Amino acid sequence: MIFYFSGTGNSQRVAQEIADVTNDELISIHQYLKLNQSGNFESNKPWVFVTPTYAWRMPKVVERWIQETSFNHQTNAYFVLTCAGSTGNAIKYVKKICKEKKWNFKGLTEIIMPENYLAMFPTPSASECQAILEKAKPSILATAQQILKGESFKNISPSFKGRLSSGPVHSLYYTLLVHDRGFKVSNQCVSCKKCAQRCPLNNIEMKNGKPIWKGNCTHCMACISGCPTKAIDYKSKTKDRYHYYIKKD
Ligand SMILES: Cc1cc2nc3c(=O)[nH]c(=O)nc-3n(C[C@H](O)[C@H](O)[C@H](O)COP(=O)(O)O)c2cc1C
Ligand code: SF4
Ligand code: SF4
Repeated sequence: MIFYFSGTGNSQRVAQEIADVTNDELISIHQYLKLNQSGNFESNKPWVFVTPTYAWRMPKVVERWIQETSFNHQTNAYFVLTCAGSTGNAIKYVKKICKEKKWNFKGLTEIIMPENYLAMFPTPSASECQAILEKAKPSILATAQQILKGESFKNISPSFKGRLSSGPVHSLYYTLLVHDRGFKVSNQCVSCKKCAQRCPLNNIEMKNGKPIWKGNCTHCMACISGCPTKAIDYKSKTKDRYHYYIKKD
């Protein structure tokens, strides 16, 4: 069974491509988060989790959801993290979850996809994103085939920098920078409500036809990147950045 969480569509695309090869069921964690629900699952096929990398680890909201959800029968678990460059030492924290769940860790693999974090970093142009997506195809296919054959992923050995990034830097990063205080909306807003509907944490409310952010944000970038009129900005640097969004509703 393939579970995915995706802010802007990279992880959704990878999960879908894996499901096409393995002929497995696809579950959107987003739907459960929206309803504030954990789950109760049963499968004969391995558990496969496909998520973005947030501050060199799986997103905290996903970690929590996995911890609170029941997974029955199957004990093999694969982790596929999409990222823009590095998953650091994410493997350490994923192994911890496997230990808690009494799962057989079948490996963590990273798939390089376009950078979506426009609130913090410059994003690639549309054509650069296209090239990155093309380049990722063979790795996605190879990953899917390994899962299909029941093979373990190759081990990733984290560097010292990776260990620091996924450890203390990760915690500090979330505490200091992952908040919604930088979001603002312009008059380009056409009150379509897509931002509110797409927020996995129901953190956006419409007030007088405009979104307001309520203080529980995981920086998934769905609201800002998916806005059809580019009416949302984060602080002052996002106007000129490419708003990468390939997610299918
Ligand atoms: C909050 C946040 C943190 C991120 N941290 C990392 C990171 O530590 N390493 C990395 O390579 N990419 C990082 N990225 C980039 C995303 O992991 C990458 O673009 C991912 O494929 C987005 O997946 P999605 O489209 O499924 O949401 C980050 C993006 C966001 C929004
Ligand atoms: S998605 Fe954009 S246009 Fe639609 S309501 Fe939100 S801010 Fe306004
Ligand atoms: S407010 Fe925007 S960035 Fe934050 S979790 Fe919701 S959709 Fe994602």
